[in-house]
Amino acid sequence: MTTVSGIFETMAYGPAPESDKQALEWVARHDGTFGLFIGGGWTNGKSGELFDVINPATTARLARVTQASEADVDAAVAAARQAFPAWAGLSGHARARHLYALAREVQKHARLLAVLESLDNGKSIRETRDLDIPLVARHFYHHAGWAQLVEAEFPGHAPVGVVGQIIPWNFPLLMMAWKVAPALAAGNTVVLKPAEFTPLTALCLAEIAHHAGLPPGVLNVVTGDGRTGELLVRHPDIDKIAFTGSTEVGRVIRKATAGSGKKLSLELGGKSPFIVFDDADLDSVVEGVVDAIWFNQGQVCCAGSRLLVHEGVAERLVTKLRARMEKLRVGPPLDKAIDMGAIVAPVQLERIRKLVDTGVAEGATLWQPSWACPTEGYFYPPTLFTGVAPAATIAQVEIFGPVLVTMTFRTPAEAVELANNTPYGLAASVWTENVNLALDVAPKIKAGVVWINCTNLFDAASGFGGYRESGFGREGGREGMWEYLKADRGSGLGTRSSGGAAGRTKHKAPAVPSRAPSPESPVPPIDRTYKMFIGGKQVRPDAPYARQIFGAGGRLLGEVGEGNRKDIRDAVEAAHAAAAWAHVSGHNRGQILYYIAENLSVRAAEFAGHLEAMTGRGRDDARREVDASLTRLFSYAAWADKYDGAVHHVPIRGVTLAMNEPIGVLGIACPAEHPLLGFVSLVAPALATGNTVVAIPSEAHPLAATELYTVLDASDLPGGVVNIVTGPKDALAKVLAEHDDVDAVWYFGNRAAAAEVERASAGNMKRTWAEWDERDWLDNQQGEGREFLREATQVKNIWIPYGE
Ligand code: NAI
Repeated sequence: MTTVSGIFETMAYGPAPESDKQALEWVARHDGTFGLFIGGGWTNGKSGELFDVINPATTARLARVTQASEADVDAAVAAARQAFPAWAGLSGHARARHLYALAREVQKHARLLAVLESLDNGKSIRETRDLDIPLVARHFYHHAGWAQLVEAEFPGHAPVGVVGQIIPWNFPLLMMAWKVAPALAAGNTVVLKPAEFTPLTALCLAEIAHHAGLPPGVLNVVTGDGRTGELLVRHPDIDKIAFTGSTEVGRVIRKATAGSGKKLSLELGGKSPFIVFDDADLDSVVEGVVDAIWFNQGQVCCAGSRLLVHEGVAERLVTKLRARMEKLRVGPPLDKAIDMGAIVAPVQLERIRKLVDTGVAEGATLWQPSWACPTEGYFYPPTLFTGVAPAATIAQVEIFGPVLVTMTFRTPAEAVELANNTPYGLAASVWTENVNLALDVAPKIKAGVVWINCTNLFDAASGFGGYRESGFGREGGREGMWEYLKADRGSGLGTRSSGGAAGRTKHKAPAVPSRAPSPESPVPPIDRTYKMFIGGKQVRPDAPYARQIFGAGGRLLGEVGEGNRKDIRDAVEAAHAAAAWAHVSGHNRGQILYYIAENLSVRAAEFAGHLEAMTGRGRDDARREVDASLTRLFSYAAWADKYDGAVHHVPIRGVTLAMNEPIGVLGIACPAEHPLLGFVSLVAPALATGNTVVAIPSEAHPLAATELYTVLDASDLPGGVVNIVTGPKDALAKVLAEHDDVDAVWYFGNRAAAAEVERASAGNMKRTWAEWDERDWLDNQQGEGREFLREATQVKNIWIPYGE
């Protein structure tokens, strides 16, 4: 018999199981079988196909759920569409009341949801009880607040419409809250597809929300595997897709939505660095590592899976880590004293085993604790690799399991280089007692979140999301709300209004192209051939071809180089070489934009003349375009030191700095109309925020831009910050979209080419901004402002706890 004195002797843990009674009763009330939650009620799937939901800790079947078919997805989208006008038409306050009610319900059902989540996913009750479910409630409360404030804080914006949301299995209910709360707050209606391994808490919350009075059709849940997800992605009546999951599927979705006009946000994989400098508090670091990689069995997109340690302390840290790993407890998730539960499914367990085998085969040193995992479920022990080469498979590929790889560095610069040495950019942790070092390193790491002396902290007030192949868009905070809003210009600009301006680049071909003298001059003009503008120099195109540019009356105005793939490559290289522009102060960037305006204003009449000759518009009209370009340059000169970040109110003792960082190298394909103003309207915000640019000017009327480079040249703009490649706009834009060293592409033109750009961007998951509907560039509401600045930046949230 166990006695108290005996326990004191051995210090062994006894079992401390949480009851599964309430959760199993909820499943039993549904006879263990679930239909789909559509239009405020349960419906049976049309195909009748069901699949099993397994408890990964026991391998027993928990329930059967429906594989939603095309007809089911149609019905769910139709229900959401029907509910949309009334929901969007509610006052912000009314939606706030609904979200507040949902938050309250989550708290009231906290135990049921926590246990159900543990049963379904295999994660420990300690985590679902103390982290997942409280954060779910927090998200609904926080976004009740945004619903209340949306009209005041986002004037001129409207909900996007019907939103399709596809979520993974690692934080099933939390990911649902991250997606549903902002969508509903902004006035959208939702069709959500949970992951096939973990659908139960989403179904449960949909039912709870209905009982709490959420109008039918506002939140619909369809279950199924990737096929159901694909139906949602391709559905013509969906206005936005929000996805969290693997980069691989994110890429498929990027391609599938190309040219559809659907708004898209992607939160994808990661291989996040956990950087330890030699002055860090190593005992805190050890607990940090436990949280970083063994939390949720390492099935965390932002898991600190690469431990980068200052060489001098590596051995000491690894020794401490091994000692700590010996004490971790893997076992039944409902046991409150368990550190790690089960892996979600056999396929994931297999993936982890295979990657670990690869690590060993590639020569890294494997270490696992001496104790054995339970064998009846899908368990895997905490695992540590040392002696890992930076290019090794396990150092590059997301394992999504409890596997840590360790590498060492000697200098901060080397640490940053190693940190950025993957295609991902989701999160990073930096550990040092030196605040100067921490704040010097944080901006250099390509990641959407940086935790200083902490890790895996999340809050509804702070945006979360990636750089590079970790996706785009943010969830949480003000920055997350933008994902569910669109500018309300009445005409459906930049949205899915069909038709658009396909072929807007068309211009009148001259009936008889001629080099004839102009009526004002009896002698033929001197041949004028414009070169490309690359790296601050006028350079000849790679291929010795030029295209003739004719004016509206058929008069030859000049020739421009016919840019090709090689010219784009050179321009991208030059733009990268000018990356120091990002570190120029806002004041100085503003000064240069003012200087460009000053030099352009001196030549305003001349530029108006060019515009008149090219477009055939009247002199006054042309002059208006030049004047508007000057105003715009002034606007972005003004913005250069005013597009501030924020300090978020997160519930820690510390601050979270939301910094607006430039994206990097932007490719910009300018609109055909307003050849000068269109160019300036896009390039100036990119410059104001610290990006470097490869611009393709209006194909029909490129001379405004090619003339402009003499102005740029005279205005102290460093070489390579703006590069101009003339030629076939759509083909060149596609080359930019395919280029792995271009970080974002903006395309303004026709729909077919926009689709090509979006599709090609999937290569490195670069951000795109593609529009094919007309925009009034002369209107300041449409032609400038925060929308442009948001597109030109990405938010990095830096968490800095403080206190002794
Ligand atoms: P996944 O990306 O395949 O699944 C995520 C969601 O997308 C699920 O709801 C799934 O049904 C859906 N889906 C799958 N194919 C789809 C398609 N063609 N169109 C639309 N939706 C589709 O992730 P999976 O297979 O569960 O895990 C594979 C790997 O992905 C993991 O080992 C891990 O490395 C990574 N992963 C990353 C996550 C993250 O949060 N970053 C989350 C889950 C997985």
